[in-house]
Amino acid sequence: MKIRIAPSILTADFAHLGEQVVLLEKGGADYLHLDIMDGHFVPNLTFGPPVVASLRQVTGLPFDVHLMVEKPEQFIESFAAAGGDSITVHAEVCPHLHRVVQEIKSLGLRAGVALNPATPLEAVEYVLDQVDLVLLMTVNPGWGGQKFIEGVCRKIRLLRNRIIREKLSVSLQVDGGINFQTIGTAVAAGADFLVIGSALFQEGNLEEAVSRFRQRAEEALATSWWGRSQPCST
Ligand code: DX5
Ligand code: ZN
Repeated sequence: MKIRIAPSILTADFAHLGEQVVLLEKGGADYLHLDIMDGHFVPNLTFGPPVVASLRQVTGLPFDVHLMVEKPEQFIESFAAAGGDSITVHAEVCPHLHRVVQEIKSLGLRAGVALNPATPLEAVEYVLDQVDLVLLMTVNPGWGGQKFIEGVCRKIRLLRNRIIREKLSVSLQVDGGINFQTIGTAVAAGADFLVIGSALFQEGNLEEAVSRFRQRAEEALATSWWGRSQPCST
């Protein structure tokens, strides 16, 4: 099983965004997590495809695009064209979730589905064999710097159990409030793909911080109940 670290640039210094992304890449990040907010599904606004396309010029890191927007199907093509490698949509805003997942995959991208803390796992039940990634939000989306919601750990454990039992090739991503303490809790419960925002950018040395987070996660994996299960192939 491989741990994946995806820094979220939401709390980066946007005046020096390109340089900071280069440091994250040098530190060994696996993906760059890009939080797209529309002011409707979540009460905040961030950035759109032009910023993603600019970042595409400065890094080879795969882009993990997290769409916190209503009608995400309207934005899939433009984020794919801007350089997205993986696109995650929220189940809460997708009445035609199966179709949206197929649209993402038809562009050759990895498809992810995100669930808010209060959304039950049942929301992904019938697309679980179709997706590459399930994102279990550990905060209510909208801002960086919020507190990790412990109650989601039960959902993480349930999903990890299911992935193991059915030998699914699905990454289990967590996002929100991951810091040096909670990263161990999330991995112990079953997460293998960690989004880290403010806790990373609070550190003085971004390169070093990425590898310290990875080390902490790998330690937790080594002693976890599920760490010896088969790695997923994606
Ligand atoms: C929350 C975003 C997260 C957030 C993570 O709405 O989806 O990606 O930026 O930031 P931290 O790690 O500060 O919670
Ligand atoms: Zn996110």
